[in-house]
Amino acid sequence: MKLLENKVAIVTGASRGIGEAIALKFAAQGAHVAFTYLSSDEKAKILEEKLQAFGVKAKAYKSNAGVYEECETLVAEVLKEFGSIDICVNNAGISKDNLLLRLSPDQWDDVMNINLKSVYNMTKQVIRPMMKAKSGSIINMSSVIGIMGNAGQSSYAASKAGIIGFSKSIAQELGSRNIRCNSVAPGFIETDMTSYLKEGEAASSYISKIPLARFGTPEDIANVCLFLASDLSSYVTGQTISACGGLCM
Ligand SMILES: NC(=O)c1ccc[n+]([C@@H]2O[C@H](COP(=O)([O-])OP(=O)(O)OC[C@H]3O[C@@H](n4cnc5c(N)ncnc54)[C@H](OP(=O)(O)O)[C@@H]3O)[C@@H](O)[C@H]2O)c1
Repeated sequence: MKLLENKVAIVTGASRGIGEAIALKFAAQGAHVAFTYLSSDEKAKILEEKLQAFGVKAKAYKSNAGVYEECETLVAEVLKEFGSIDICVNNAGISKDNLLLRLSPDQWDDVMNINLKSVYNMTKQVIRPMMKAKSGSIINMSSVIGIMGNAGQSSYAASKAGIIGFSKSIAQELGSRNIRCNSVAPGFIETDMTSYLKEGEAASSYISKIPLARFGTPEDIANVCLFLASDLSSYVTGQTISACGGLCM
């Protein structure tokens, strides 16, 4: 028996990186997957086909997670197409790093809208069908930077810390309805977002701070999401699980 047999999952920001790994992991475990992206049309099409090859229903939606109305439309369309929503992974995110002295209001707003407001936008929509079904798992992608902070990443850190507080509040609001809400806090994961870290001396300096002595892979994070999405974590809510090779402990 597969862990997510016939469950319906929405994963935001899945055309690349961590989101793509989550979508593939869920489909391999029997879930039907609706996923979103912003501009990578070609990659989204290819992923849609890869997911369908697992014998599940899969569909890509071009939808900006930072815009409330787009999330409202997205969830309505997914419900029409898939019939229910059991799992929501709020993964879409960006970084616009700058020291505070140079950080513009627009950069701050972009990071807040796409990283934090997106989680509100999506969670507000998916809890209705989950309340009706008296079951659901919401997984919000935070970061160890939201726990530890990082010079040059004040907006990113604030957005990711906000996700942790939001998730704990939703866990308390909706636990009695059997809806769980948890955060995942990845460390440095090999994706486009961190490609600049892999060059030269910077890479060895980062790795020297990680007890497991390597960057993480998108699959490392997808495995944690699989646990949180499935009944294996049926008594886990309001938690933040760091998957960071021990960088943050
Ligand atoms: N990589 C890391 O080391 C790391 C560490 C901690 C936390 N995280 C978090 O993990 C999540 C995924 O990161 P990643 O490294 O996989 O990023 P990534 O490789 O840059 O991929 C980002 C994904 O999000 C999508 N996206 C961006 N803005 C969007 C929007 N407004 N609406 C919908 N989709 C949007 C992108 O779509 P397009 O392809 O269409 O642009 C892409 O699919 C983020 O929340 C990030 O903050 C990453």
